[in-house]
Amino acid sequence: MRTIKWQDGTVITVDQTKLPLEIVTLKIKTVGQMAEAIKNLRVRGAPLLGASAAFGLALAACNSKAGRVSELLAELEDAAKVLKSTRPTAVNLFWATDRVLDKARSFLGEVEGLKVLVVEEAQIIADEDAEANRAMGENGAALINDGEVILTHCNAGELATVEFGTALGVIRAAWKQGKKIKVIATETRPLLQGARLTAYELKRDGIPVTLITDSMVGYVMHKRLIDKVVVGADRIVQDAVVNKIGTFTVAVLAHEHGVPFYVAAPKSTFDLTRTSTDVIIEERRPTEVTHYGAKQVAAEGIGVLNPAFDVTPLKYVSAIIHESGVYYKKDFAKFKSNVLT
Ligand code: MRU
Repeated sequence: MRTIKWQDGTVITVDQTKLPLEIVTLKIKTVGQMAEAIKNLRVRGAPLLGASAAFGLALAACNSKAGRVSELLAELEDAAKVLKSTRPTAVNLFWATDRVLDKARSFLGEVEGLKVLVVEEAQIIADEDAEANRAMGENGAALINDGEVILTHCNAGELATVEFGTALGVIRAAWKQGKKIKVIATETRPLLQGARLTAYELKRDGIPVTLITDSMVGYVMHKRLIDKVVVGADRIVQDAVVNKIGTFTVAVLAHEHGVPFYVAAPKSTFDLTRTSTDVIIEERRPTEVTHYGAKQVAAEGIGVLNPAFDVTPLKYVSAIIHESGVYYKKDFAKFKSNVLT
């Protein structure tokens, strides 16, 4: 199932803040509406953020009244700034925005032709993500054995991508191959992407899933209830994997218990010109921590830290699954010279 679609100048997607209790279709018609949807996590997950940003530029192009290519290009540059200011951590958003802009800048022709080109490029980005996830699923499924229990954190599923998912794509592919696996999903405080989205997706697809709170990861590992961990990524840099807050804790616990820790991410999530110190970790509203849903649970005026992501050094990562294969520990050394094969 496609999470995001372009239909006659409108982007159709589902409002992920309402799932799983309500399925509300979003019809996004302007780049401003797209920026709002990204900022408020109506659309979220690194690969989906890439496709959403690309479609945001497509909306800007289609809504433009520019009479000249140079004017339209200037409008696209402004739209790109708006989109890039929404969320700082997932590199896919920046990668997709720059890819569409670069394509537009090199265009030679009339305004209408440029509009078509921008929409086409956004659609290609979306199609490529869907294909990459299916290939990644097959590559990762080879690492999963029949009967294993897989722990995953946050939501790296269909809802975080254009189709199929990254970490959940691996789980889905293994399940489709007939491997009788089970999944343990962490709830993923504070925004509960695990409880609301991962558990929903897997239950809907008939893949056995058990929900735990984030603080139970140590317990389930100690009890030897987990065979492997598979998570997604928001940005992979030379020395680390940046992913949802809590990923680092899961990785250290996996290392301590000798549980393989796999990351599944497409090439669009790799940012090998940077190291972990260059990455901006998004800091979100204090109320996400002080409140449980709409209800305040912490004392009024309490100090709060709310980083949305953390950094897992590569020494804790057993392998990175991507669309053209798997990188193992021996391959990570090449990340420093920005070599990807
Ligand atoms: O804040 P979110 O919900 O956008 O964070 C999502 C994650 O951290 C995912 O694990 C990551 O983007 C990988 S999704 C394939």
